[in-house]
Amino acid sequence: MTPRSTDWGLALVVGLLFATGVMTLFAGQHGDAWIFAVHGAGGFALAAVLSWKLRRVWRRLVDPARWNRGTAAGAAAVTVVAATLLSGLGWSSGAHLSAVGYNLQKKHFALGVVLTIAVVVHAVVRAKPLRRRDLAGRRQFLQVGAIAAGSYLVWELQRPLSAWFGLRGARRRFTGSYEAGSFAGNAFPATSWVADRPRPLHEASYRLELHGLVARPRRVPLAELRAGDSLVATLDCTGGFYSRQRWSGVRLARLLERAGPLPAASHVRVISHTGYRWSFALRDANQLLLATGVGGETLSHEHGAPVRLVAPGRRGFEWVKWVVRIELHDGPDPGAAASTVWSSVTPEGRGAA
Ligand code: HEM
Repeated sequence: MTPRSTDWGLALVVGLLFATGVMTLFAGQHGDAWIFAVHGAGGFALAAVLSWKLRRVWRRLVDPARWNRGTAAGAAAVTVVAATLLSGLGWSSGAHLSAVGYNLQKKHFALGVVLTIAVVVHAVVRAKPLRRRDLAGRRQFLQVGAIAAGSYLVWELQRPLSAWFGLRGARRRFTGSYEAGSFAGNAFPATSWVADRPRPLHEASYRLELHGLVARPRRVPLAELRAGDSLVATLDCTGGFYSRQRWSGVRLARLLERAGPLPAASHVRVISHTGYRWSFALRDANQLLLATGVGGETLSHEHGAPVRLVAPGRRGFEWVKWVVRIELHDGPDPGAAASTVWSSVTPEGRGAA
């Protein structure tokens, strides 16, 4: 590989890792496992290309006589790439490293974002265009093929090897999450996407508002939500844990039927007391449950009492907590993603109202 094609290769793999990294946040079904495979194998490919590059430049990095204006930036870049790789590998091997309240997974996300921004800035400011000789050639083609196949093989071997060495990483789910508090009622970690921390909601005065494109808008009391429907589903948090639980409450589809969806209704919006909301296609409502209990216990405040959404196969941030309103609409909700951030600064989200 020429120096230019190595640099462009590094940038491309970082781009692939960033894209698949962001996709992991939305991947919760077994059919999404390929995203984690591409991300993991991409990580090993990056390590291979980086060591290739380091073999070429390490003398310049360690010999002060050869330092120039670009050396510090180059050294910083190598450090960020290495830190991102090591944090991802550390997490997937089961290392417990948390500082200032953030586990390795969250640090890995943050490093991935910093690295991607650095690569984009570098590409805009300094990238040298590729020439024909940087791309053409059977040897290069074979090298790229070997790196891709080798990386995939290493990724495939990673789990069996982790199991062989007794590493905790062998027990992680295909999403990279580790088990916590399954089938133990409310005793599983309570997390927030950003920082929602509302006051406890009053059970006696609680009503679930059911509005939008329905024939009969309703205000549903809590007793009607404790309908005896139940299902077993895995809450898989992007913060890195999963918990399998039996949830009880009422199937959302059953509640919607009573309100009479209008023909134009295609999406259901589930809205929290804090303003946090998420939207689902109406045809998926059959799989959704509004839970008032978990593992035979009444849902606790930290887990979204009196009512939270259970959305099997979706990542935890879609399982809206402290649900107070359900709305039917004729399309998806373009503001949902933003709501998950600003909900933490609303008076309700801060616990001030
Ligand atoms: C752009 C730079 C990135 C690099 C170089 C990188 C690299 C890696 C590496 C080497 C692993 C270990 C793979 C394995 O052992 O199977 C990993 C795992 C992981 N990364 Fe990244 N990553 C990046 C960005 C991201 C981003 C932005 C996210 C999410 C927002 C993310 C989410 C994950 C997750 C969830 C895992 C765990 C997967 C598992 O345990 O199988 N990564 N990453």
